[in-house]
Order: sequence, then structure tokens, then C-alpha cells
Amino acid sequence: MCGIVGYIGTKEAAPIILDGLSKLEYRGYDSAGMAVYDGHKINISKSVGRLKVLEELTHGGETMKGCVGIGHTRWATHGAPSTTNAHPHFNKKETICVVHNGIIENYIALRRKLTAKGYEFVSETDTEVVAHLLDYYYKGNPLEAITKVLHRVEGSYALGVVFAEHPDQLFAVRKDSPLIVGQNTDGCYIASDVPAVLKYTRKVYYVDNQEIVRLRGDHMHFYTVDEEELEKEAVYIDWDANAAEKAGYEHFMLKEMYEQPKTVTDTLSPRIQDDDIVIEELNMTDEELSAIKKIHIVACGSAYHAGMTGKYVLEGLARIPVEVDLASEFRYRDPILEEGAMVVVISQSGETADTLAALREAKKRGFRVLGIVNVVGSSIAREADSVMYTWAGPEIAVATTKAYSAQLIALYLLAMKFANVRKTVAQEEMKEMLEDLKKLPDQIELLLGNKKRIQRFANRYVGAKDIFFVGRGIDYAISLEGSLKLKEISYIHSEAYAAGELKHGTISLIEEGTLVAAVATQQHLYAKTVSNMVEVKARGAFVLAVTNEGNHDIEKVADYVIYIPETHPLFANSLAIIPLQLFGYYVAVGKGCDVDKPRNLAKSVTVE
Ligand code: F6R
Repeated sequence: MCGIVGYIGTKEAAPIILDGLSKLEYRGYDSAGMAVYDGHKINISKSVGRLKVLEELTHGGETMKGCVGIGHTRWATHGAPSTTNAHPHFNKKETICVVHNGIIENYIALRRKLTAKGYEFVSETDTEVVAHLLDYYYKGNPLEAITKVLHRVEGSYALGVVFAEHPDQLFAVRKDSPLIVGQNTDGCYIASDVPAVLKYTRKVYYVDNQEIVRLRGDHMHFYTVDEEELEKEAVYIDWDANAAEKAGYEHFMLKEMYEQPKTVTDTLSPRIQDDDIVIEELNMTDEELSAIKKIHIVACGSAYHAGMTGKYVLEGLARIPVEVDLASEFRYRDPILEEGAMVVVISQSGETADTLAALREAKKRGFRVLGIVNVVGSSIAREADSVMYTWAGPEIAVATTKAYSAQLIALYLLAMKFANVRKTVAQEEMKEMLEDLKKLPDQIELLLGNKKRIQRFANRYVGAKDIFFVGRGIDYAISLEGSLKLKEISYIHSEAYAAGELKHGTISLIEEGTLVAAVATQQHLYAKTVSNMVEVKARGAFVLAVTNEGNHDIEKVADYVIYIPETHPLFANSLAIIPLQLFGYYVAVGKGCDVDKPRNLAKSVTVE
């Protein structure tokens, strides 16, 4: 959601900015722009739509000469996508230039005050107040002007700022929106996320809340909002650069689906030692774990769906009551957190504004927060009391696949750890479960091998109007995720229902030929779900069933069946989701959709 790239050094800035922005396209955006200082003044180019429009406009950056600049991809919040609203934004004299990610919450009041002082606004954005406010406070010292502005603005921001009077400097500032800075021998870089600079440097610094960075060509300095200088430690990024590239796959989403066996192994294996579950990063003794009376899982979107499965697994194995909340609801519903409760927040990006706010709410009330997070060093990872990383590596496609799979694994491990200390599962069963966990990567591989068959089936549904997903228990949680995968990338309307709930309303939507995907992996609920399949079939539905190997009698009811290999029922999600991800993907490909960058969506949702 909005991407920022900045560069200052000995090379031409524009091509570096364009290249960096292209690595942030996954974040979602609807316009783009960049500003480069040419030795005399700051020049700006902006365009609506894809980054390639800006690339064409500037001939790949050729027409914007200069070695210091900032660029931005905007995901519209305040004001429609337009060149006027696209960033960068100037002060009136065009001497101060700003790009911004986040929301300035008090921008209306600031805009009113600045207007009263004679400032004129050209855009509808909240960001423009920052440019004018900087102008108001600037008396020759950029750092002083920035700190004054930071004391006035409320909300979330990652900012890149260039002052025409100080072209040997570039400024980066952050509060509650992600921002990193990096350095190599050619210069210094600003970016919203590591992939944007990976080609140039592996030495990066995570900018903390309310820190200001002054970047020069060959060094950078960090400051607090009170202009005190800070010491920061660099982090060396050891990702394989290919991890952030498509590596021959048609889409990042397909590549990431194929990375799932590795992701599962990477998340699992460091935490299984001598046939025991070891989660050192929990930083909790067995006594502390035993004392937990209730778990609140809080997350958004797919991470919430993983959390729903987590509830079944944690309650099933460890007999701890679990409540699962959408982060956007949790914060404002004044949740009742009783003594002995622990909060688990789940997030791929670690920057989701609602999830971060829920974490802070829980901490404010004195509760321990565990983060299940993918992006190392992200805000949630840094603010949680303990972090279980999901080792999925960079996830670029907007629709999550491998990070979701890794979240499931983290939740299984957590549930098994709790079950161990609470002695709620017999040793023998625990051993079998560990064996089942270890088999998951190969089983996922096997299911991925089925892609041609699923593609043929998916091609029949590119023209579908509605597709429903149903299941009970964990199968319902799987259905929610299957339905989200399909609708977010193919734009086909889809809903997921608890199978027993259909006849309380939704069944009236079933027409001749409507596809209903029924997930039936939970043997104790199997007969019930089959009855629900019969009900929809009787109303004309075409039924796709996803069930366990061996349930061949399902073919009497279902029109099309996908079998998943045998595993512990509580782990079935990890297998059943694979064909549903492939199905959603191939329907979207068949429709010619922009699979990796679906319309209106952003990868990292840093606004409420
Ligand atoms: C769907 C998807 C989203 C995210 C949600 C939370 O494919 O990716 O629903 O799961 O926006 O994002 P994170 O996990 O980054 O907090």
C-alpha cells in the first residue's frame, strides 16, 4: 500500500527509483510519480495507472537527470487516483518535495490553519499539508523544519523529503508505516520494503518510529524527533535475490504456491528437535505456558482464516479456550481480556494497521502478545513480546499463499507445545502427529503436481457469476480461505458458508449449474457435509468435493472430486487449501486478470 523509493549518490537517481518502485508494485497502487533534482531545481513527473506509464513518460528515467530523487506509487485514500493527487507534492515555491505513505489524521485542521495563513492547496491529499507545513517551518535548516512538522502531524507516515536548497541531502522519516534505508558504495537508499533495494545493497537499517534519517551520498545519520543523534545497527539481508524475482514462473503467485513445501519445511524443522517441539522464541517457561487460561487470536484476511483453523487446533489439542477476532473489530469492541489471557496476532507483513493497533491495545492493557509474523524487523515483530517467525521469505503476490501455509504450521506447533506442557495429548499420539507434520511438505508437492487437472476444471468457470464454498469445522475455515483466494484475484463473486448454515438463507442463491465447492476432510463431520452436498445438488448445483483419500463413496454425490493424502485431521487445512489456491489462480488466469496485482488491493494494508 503506497511505495516509497529514494536515492542520493553518484548515479542517476531516476532509473534506480523506477526499478525500486517496480519491486514494490506488489504493494498495490493506482498512480506513480517521482521527483529528481537536476542541479538547479526539482523536476516532477507523475502518471495515473501502472508504473510503465511513468517509465514511458520519462523514457525509463532518461529525461529526469540528477543524482538525488524520490519516487512513489500511490494507493488512493484521500482523493481519487489522478496526476494531481499522485505524489510527490511540492510547496508553492517548488523547493520542498514530499512523498508519503500512511494517513495524516489531523490534516483537515492543519489544512484549515495553513489556508488561513495563505497557503494554497492543489490536491485533495492529506500529504500536501506536510509539504506546506515544512515550508512554514523551514528557515534554512531542514532537520529543524522536519522535527517541527513531526510535532504537529498526527497519524501514520513514512516520508521521503528533498529540499532544493540542500541537494546533498535526502530525508527519511517514519511513524507506523514501514521504511528502511540502505547504503552501498554508490550511494544511500530509502524504501518501503527490502526488495526495492536488494539489487543495490544488502546493508539496511530499519527506521524506527519517529526517527529521522539524513542521507548523504556516502553516509547517513539518524535522529530523534528532538534532533538528538542516534546510533543504529545495520541488518545484513541474506535473502536469495531470486526469492524476490519470478524465476521463470508466469506469476509470483504461482511461484509462491510452488514454494510452499519449502516454506512449510523452513517453518517446521527448526522447531522440531529430537522429536520434541521447541519454540525458544516464545520466551516462556512451561509454568508460564500452563498458566495461560485463554488465547485471543487477532488478525485480518487470510491471516484471520489461519487463526480460525488455529482455534480448532489449539482447542482440540490443548483444550484452551480460543477466541478469534478480526483485528479491525477487536480494537473497538472493548474486548474482555481476563487475567491469564494471551493475545496472538498473526500477520504476513507485520505492518497491517488494524493488527498493529490490536497488538498495542492488548499491550496497553498489560497482556502478553505473541506475534506470528513473516517480515523480519516489521512493526508487529518489533512490538510484540515474542515473535514466532514464519520462514516464508518475501511474498510478492498480493494474494497470500505461502505465508498463509506457514502461519498454519506455526499455529500447529504452538498448539502442540501447549498440549505438551498441559499433557492433554498422549505421547503416542503426539509422536504420530510429529510424523504427520514432517510428511506435509511432500504431500503438498504431490498436490501441486495436480495442477493441470485443476487448470482444466478451472477453465470451465471463468464465466461463473457466483461460486460457493462450504464446510464444517476446520473445513469451514478452509472454505473461507478458498473463497477469498478465488474472489480477490478473479473478481468472481464468492462466499463461504458453514455447510449447516446454507439452508438458513443462502441456499436460495443456488441455481442450475452454480458451482459449490464442498470441503469434507473432517471424518467426524463427513456424513453431515455430504448431506449438505445432496441438498445443493438437488437444487441444481454442480458439486466439487475436496475430501480424504479413501472417501470414494463421495463420487455418488459430487460431480468432481479432489482427494487429499492422509494426515492428522487437524492438519488437513495444509493440504486441502492447495487445490483451492490452484483453482482460484487458474480461474483468474483464464479470465486474463492481473493475478499478482488484483485491482483495488494492496499487499500491506497500512491504513485502518
Ligand atoms: C489475502 C491477503 C490478505 C491478508 C491481510 C492481512 O490473500 O493476503 O487478506 O491476509 O491483508 O495481511 P497481513 O498478513 O500482512 O497482516
